[in-house]
Amino acid sequence: MAKKNIGIFQRLKNNSEKIVMTTAYDYSTAKVLEEADIDGILVGDSLAQVALGYENTYNITIDEMLIFIKAVAKGAKNSFIIGDMPFMSYNLSIEQGLENAGKMISSGANAVKLEGCNEYILNLVKRCVESGIPVLGHLGLTPQSLNLIGGHKIQGKTKEAVEKILECAKKLEEAGAFAVVLELMPTESAEYITKNLSIPTIGIGAGVNCDGQIVVSDDILGKYTDFEPKFIKKFANLHDVVLEGIKEYKEAVKNKTFPSKEHSF
Ligand code: KIV
Repeated sequence: MAKKNIGIFQRLKNNSEKIVMTTAYDYSTAKVLEEADIDGILVGDSLAQVALGYENTYNITIDEMLIFIKAVAKGAKNSFIIGDMPFMSYNLSIEQGLENAGKMISSGANAVKLEGCNEYILNLVKRCVESGIPVLGHLGLTPQSLNLIGGHKIQGKTKEAVEKILECAKKLEEAGAFAVVLELMPTESAEYITKNLSIPTIGIGAGVNCDGQIVVSDDILGKYTDFEPKFIKKFANLHDVVLEGIKEYKEAVKNKTFPSKEHSF
């Protein structure tokens, strides 16, 4: 399999083919995603909750993110990997943002994702792209601003709100972002933005009409069960599979059927 690159996103949008993305945080999951020929793998800052058990994404640091990016890059050598810039790793100065985006690329990411679209962010996107770092934007519900937003509120519910998100998306496109994540908004709002944008939109809780979809893999696989958003469908129930397997292992050790001769030397 040839290494996937940034070109795949625009090509799929132009061909009206859906872009399929999900998250990975570790080597073995990344290997499976590559085997499934997923279009893009995000090492999301959601790993703060899903892999590290933190309450939210505010506490994860760039150094922690880099460890997971390295693991995913090793497992999915031919995939297009996007590193999620964590809270405060790009907000202090353009230099800080560029330096940390560079660290993500050096660790094996092929692009970075950052949230928002104010003048500062747009400038940072431009500088990253000028430096050879592809950027995925993120609009709608931006989890790193949850304290400002006041919780997981659906975005883009009014005409004015949708126009504002579209304006932001257009500015990101102009700044050089190769695609933009649209999180938590009505289907019609995301569809309107998608139709009026040249770069692809990748939806999460934004309905079926985005150019692509992204989900947290542990959510759709039923492995992470602390928080179950309405927009998630479980395509597997790994929690039950893992629990069953561990119980069987425990039982086998207790009743001395494992390890058997076959598994001994
Ligand atoms: O952190 C994350 O996993 C995300 C989502 C878009 C899936 O940002």
